[in-house]
Amino acid sequence: MGGSSLPADLVNDGFGDGPRLEIVRDYRLPAAAGPRDLCIASSYSGNTEETLAALDDALSRGCRAIALSHGGQLEAKAAAAGIPHVPIPESIQPRCASGYFFASLVGIFHRLSLIPTPEALLDRLSKHLSGVQDACEARGKALAEALRDRVPIVYGPAEFAGAARIWKIKFNENAKIQSFSNVFPELNHNEMVGFTRLLIKPALIFLESRFMHPRVKRRMDVMEEILGREIPIHRLSFAGESPLFEMFESLAVADYASYHLAQAYGIDPAPVEMVEAFKKKL
Ligand code: F6R
Repeated sequence: MGGSSLPADLVNDGFGDGPRLEIVRDYRLPAAAGPRDLCIASSYSGNTEETLAALDDALSRGCRAIALSHGGQLEAKAAAAGIPHVPIPESIQPRCASGYFFASLVGIFHRLSLIPTPEALLDRLSKHLSGVQDACEARGKALAEALRDRVPIVYGPAEFAGAARIWKIKFNENAKIQSFSNVFPELNHNEMVGFTRLLIKPALIFLESRFMHPRVKRRMDVMEEILGREIPIHRLSFAGESPLFEMFESLAVADYASYHLAQAYGIDPAPVEMVEAFKKKL
């Protein structure tokens, strides 16, 4: 759930030709889950009720399981059930631990011999991100200024569905504003018609990939032609050797954009009091 599930999308989208995770954001596993399946239960706090219930469901169906958490009931449950537990290091918030979760998932894939050793790739990715960090901050800050008092709507190619969703979540949780995401080409078949009558003040963010289908680029151009006079459109592209690198670089820009928006709105980007208060009321 939430921040503890974001990296699973990046694994699926970033390793397009690798094994796919079936992401379950619910109390129960899909009906077909059984002894041939491996359940990776992932919760930063280790106390998220849906994750704990899904792990119980997995164990009762005879699935194999691995738990990822920074302590909590999940770690205790893993010890009691005799399943491996991967400790996630301390982080400001679960959604800031994406790098730890991502590397843990990739590490599990490697240990299962599903992918070659990822160490060199992770090293290059981390060097790439260090190299572009200042530029990402500058881009994020400029974007935050342009997004002030607008609802950011984040669109990307289908293979960036996870990244676009994480962008919107960063605006939701860090800047504490409404934000939405969707992907090309599907949005051209329905969602864009909704801009005929503007009930909010949106700003569109197009995440461009050098690897996306050329017709998707054409779709972005045509959208800009049709809507660009009425709605500000920010087109962002990223460097790096693969879509995975582009996604991570884009998320660094999203972090800075949402952080600077929070600053502009006089809000602390870290805590999510509504999420905590809601959990207590359940
Ligand atoms: C907080 C956050 C939330 C939590 C979610 C699940 O930063 O992003 O979305 O991640 O409520 O809690 P955990 O991650 O502890 O399982």
